[in-house]
Amino acid sequence: MCGIVGYVGRSEAAPILLDGLRRLEYRGYDSAGVAIVDGDRVETRKCAGRIAALAKLMAEKPASGSFGISHTRWATHGKVNDENAHPHFDASGKIALVHNGVIENYQALKEQLNRDGNHDFHSQTDTEVLAHLIGSIYQQLDGKDSKARLVNAVRAALKQVIGTYGIAVVHANIPDFIIGARRGSPLVLGVGKDENFLASDVSAIVAYTRDAVYLNDFDVVAVERDKFEISSLAGETGDHQVSKVEFTAEDIKKGDYPHYMLKEIFEQPDSVRDAMRGRLSLEDCTAKLGGLNMTPEQLRDVGRVVLTGCGTALHAAMVGEYLIEQLASIPTEVEYASEFRHRNTPMTPDTLVFAVSQSGETADTLGALRESRRKGYRTLGICNNVASTIARESDGGVYMHAGPEIGVAATKSFTSQLVILTLIGLLLGRMRNLSTAEGTRIIKELETLPGQIEEVLKLSDQVKAIAKKYVDVGGMLFFGRQFNFPIAVEGALKMKEITYLFAEGHPSAELKHGIIALVRPDLPSIFIAPDDAVFSKNLNNIEQIKARKGPIIAITSGNGAKQLKGLANEIVSLPDVADCLSPILTVIPLQLLAYHLAVELGRDVDKPRNLAKSVTVE
Ligand code: F6R
Repeated sequence: MCGIVGYVGRSEAAPILLDGLRRLEYRGYDSAGVAIVDGDRVETRKCAGRIAALAKLMAEKPASGSFGISHTRWATHGKVNDENAHPHFDASGKIALVHNGVIENYQALKEQLNRDGNHDFHSQTDTEVLAHLIGSIYQQLDGKDSKARLVNAVRAALKQVIGTYGIAVVHANIPDFIIGARRGSPLVLGVGKDENFLASDVSAIVAYTRDAVYLNDFDVVAVERDKFEISSLAGETGDHQVSKVEFTAEDIKKGDYPHYMLKEIFEQPDSVRDAMRGRLSLEDCTAKLGGLNMTPEQLRDVGRVVLTGCGTALHAAMVGEYLIEQLASIPTEVEYASEFRHRNTPMTPDTLVFAVSQSGETADTLGALRESRRKGYRTLGICNNVASTIARESDGGVYMHAGPEIGVAATKSFTSQLVILTLIGLLLGRMRNLSTAEGTRIIKELETLPGQIEEVLKLSDQVKAIAKKYVDVGGMLFFGRQFNFPIAVEGALKMKEITYLFAEGHPSAELKHGIIALVRPDLPSIFIAPDDAVFSKNLNNIEQIKARKGPIIAITSGNGAKQLKGLANEIVSLPDVADCLSPILTVIPLQLLAYHLAVELGRDVDKPRNLAKSVTVE
C-alpha cells in the first residue's frame, strides 16, 4: 500500500525512479510524485493519477539529478489531488519526504508544531506533518556534520510518531544522501555498484540489483552512492545481511499476456507444482515440511489449529479448516486477522496458529501474528514473499514459492495456499489416524493436479463466451457446499473487486433462509457443484432457483454435467478429483469468469478502483 523508490548513484535518477514506480504501481495508484536533487534545489513533480500521468508531466518538465525519492500513493489521509501527492516538504522547503503508512497522532503533532513556530501546511496529509517535524528538529540541532544532523532529526521525529511508516528523506543541501526508515511498512535497500536503492518492494529495483537488505522495524538507514549505514531508532548500529533476491526482472514481466491477472491464472500449473515440490513422501505417505521447525512430538501434541488472514488468504484458510479437520481430525478455526488481533479468543496452550498471507506484509495479519506470539502460541506463516515481515517474525512456516504476484486480485497465491494447507492436513493426519492408503491417495491426486489445471485452463474460451452472454447482469450470487463453500465466497470476491458488480457467496443451503428473495431473471447464480458427496444436495438448491426463473451457471465435474443438463443454463465441466482437492480446480473458472467479465466491461483488471495490493494499513 503506497510504493516508495529512492536512488543515489551516477545515473540520471528520473528514469530509474519512474521505472521503479511502474513496478510498484500495484501498491497504490491514486497519485504519484518524485523529488530529485539538482545542485542545491529539490525539483519536485507530482500529480493525481497514475504513473503514466507523472511520466507525461516529467516529459514536459524534466528533472535532472543523480539522486532522489519517489512515491505512488494509495490515499489514507486527504483526498486524491495534486497537493496531497507525495513528496511533501518541511517549512524550509529543503527537506523532502515520501511516506507509506499512517501517522496516527499527526493532529497532535501538527498542533504542537503550530504552537512552537510558523508552519504553513499545503496538504491534508499526515505525511506533511512528519516532514515539518523533521525540519523543525533539524533547525534546532547543532553540528557541522549535516548528514549526522539529518539522521538525528529523522530519529528524533520518528520517536514522537505513533503509527506506521516506511519513509525516504532527502535534503537539498546534502548531496548524494538519502535516509530511509521503517516501522510496520516494508522497506528494502538495494545494494548496487557505485549506486544504491531504496524501495517498498524488491520488484521495483530487481532490474538493477539482486542484492538486498530487508530492513527491520525501527531501522534507520543512511544511504550514499558507495556505502550505507543501518542503525536503530535509538542510534545503535547493528548487523545486517545482504540477501539474493530469488526472482529476476524477467519474472515480473507480463510477457504476451494482456494483463498480469491472466498471466498469473495461467501460471497455476507451475505454481501448484512448485508449492508441493520436494514436499511429498510416497514412502511414508505423508508431507515433509521442515520449515515448520517442529519436532514430530510437538506436531503430535497440537490439539487445536487457528488459521488467520484477510481477504483471499482468509478464504484459503476457510478451506484449510475443512481440510485439517477432515485429514487430521484436529479442531480448527478460522479467524479474520483484523478481529483476532483485537479480541480475546480463548485458546488452549496446545494451539498452533497459522498466519496466511501472500505478501507477508498485511497489517492486520501481521498484527494477529504478533498478538498470538505475545500470548505465547506457536505461530507459523504461510507466505509467498520470503523476505516479508510475517515470514521473518513467525516461528517457522511454509513458503508458497508461487513467484511474484503482481495483479491486485490474488489468483495463483490462493491455489498455492490450498496446496500448502492440504500438505499441513496430510502431515498432521499421518501423525494421527490417517491411513497409509488414504495418505497415498492424497499424494497421487496432488501429483495429478498440475495436469488437471492445464485441462481447466483450456476452458477459458468457454468461460469467456459465458462472460459475454452475461455482461449486462445486475450482479451474481455464488453458492457451494463443504470444501466449495469458501470457493463461493472467493468467487464473489474476485467478481466484486475487478468487475465492480454486486456479488455474494453463501453456503448453498442458506439460500432458502433469505437469499432466495434476491433471485430474479437478471441475477445469475453460480453453483460450484462438483460431482462430490454433496452433489445431490446442491442439485436440490439449483432446482429451487430454477423454479423461480433464476439463471444458473454450474461448475461441475464427473457425471455432474449429465444431471445438470436441462437444469443449468451453462455448464462448465472439470476433471474429477478427490473432494478435498476440488477447490484447487473449481476456483479457476471463477477467476476466469471475473477476468473475462471485467475485460468485457472495460475495467482496469490489474488495478481495480480503490484497491491496492499488500494492505499495510489497518
Ligand atoms: C483479493 C486480494 C486481497 C488479499 C488480502 C490479503 O484478491 O488480493 O483480498 O488476499 O489483502 O493479502 P495477503 O495475502 O497479501 O495478506
